[in-house]
Amino acid sequence: MRSCKNLLVSGGAGFIGVNFIRLLLSPGHAFSGRIINLDALTYAGNLMSLEDIAARHAGRRYFFELGDIGNFEQLLSIFTCYEIDTVVHFAAESHVDRSIAGPEAFIRTNVLGTFRLLEAARQYWGSKQEGVLFHHISTDEVYGSLGETGYFTEKSPYDPRSPYSASKASSDHLVMAYHHTYGLPVTLSNCSNNYGPYQFPEKLIPLMILRMLSGKALPVYGDGKNIRDWLYVEDHASALWAIITGGRTGEKYNIGGENEWDNISLLHSLIALVSGKTGIDAAAIEATITFVKDRPGHDRRYAIDCSKLKGELPWKQSVDFETGLAKTVDWYLAHPQWIAQIQREKYQQWLKKNYDAR
Ligand code: NAD
Ligand code: TYD
Repeated sequence: MRSCKNLLVSGGAGFIGVNFIRLLLSPGHAFSGRIINLDALTYAGNLMSLEDIAARHAGRRYFFELGDIGNFEQLLSIFTCYEIDTVVHFAAESHVDRSIAGPEAFIRTNVLGTFRLLEAARQYWGSKQEGVLFHHISTDEVYGSLGETGYFTEKSPYDPRSPYSASKASSDHLVMAYHHTYGLPVTLSNCSNNYGPYQFPEKLIPLMILRMLSGKALPVYGDGKNIRDWLYVEDHASALWAIITGGRTGEKYNIGGENEWDNISLLHSLIALVSGKTGIDAAAIEATITFVKDRPGHDRRYAIDCSKLKGELPWKQSVDFETGLAKTVDWYLAHPQWIAQIQREKYQQWLKKNYDAR
């Protein structure tokens, strides 16, 4: 079992990073070291999501550093100052629609930023093999689009089809190249669609919940039959911990929900849930479903085979979709302040830009 004392989490103020940090610093968790959260606080980063964590652990087990993973000097000084032994690399531009509207930021952060982080780790760790690890978090979208059958395995060829997935594919290749060329100890994971608390409401599930609550139209791309494999975010966080502590160096692991839903069926379930919890008439919400112009290059189906992870490491999904969706809706209903803070002017501008043209 690998141990880690000083863990650098990049992008720890974003959706999955927040949930990962919360898991590791939860009472009774096996992790006993320090977390250094490096985040540029783009539109997607939100320190409000970690206020209670900071209040309890800042200066002892939790440290926040404002910065860009593209800043090599700052990275080196963080590695040195905190004696970093483990990197858990979440930081990325993560939304496909934004990558279509403006791909450059994706190349800058996901490709160049990952390169700089790898370089900093290589320079600081030198040829060290034991007691250090660079874990890279990636997506199933690097594998492209499936037809009606089949699953992505770790051996599936890369076939990215959006600027987002192409930039993540590039970063995956860089991570593996640093392992093979320089001997950097790495692990890599490719996960399916996450959902749960703290997700920025540009992604399908929180976007739809918030629009239902405010009576706005529910924009479904294309015919609504695109399929995603949904995983509750806390199950992603626990899978990452399993890989970081027990995964084989130089290996990649697929993580998935084994839970395929087409978008329109998912939306009907979500409407029933929101209606049940709020008393808003379900038929009135259903009437707001609007089929809009499809996303260009819209991948039809993602589905993950995660048997390698389940076979090698002590992990399985713990939250079924019905429970996870209910917990997610409850969380958004219980956090109006978080929502108000997120829905700033720039968010409104994004909604206008993405949806007015459809
Ligand atoms: P997110 O967009 O919610 O958060 C990204 C975080 O990275 C934000 O806090 C942002 O401020 C920070 N960041 C962005 N650019 C940065 C930079 N240059 N320097 C430092 N910090 C920067 O994303 P997420 O949904 O939490 O995804 C995290 C990771 O997981 C990403 O690498 C993503 O590709 C991957 N992933 C996401 C999903 C999903 O369903 N959300 C699924 C599989 C994999
Ligand atoms: P999204 O949450 O953006 O994740 P990804 O594209 O990375 O899988 O979208 C999930 C699915 O929902 C995808 O098939 C696109 C679709 N979608 C809509 O139909 N309407 C929307 O407004 C959004 C944001 C997504």
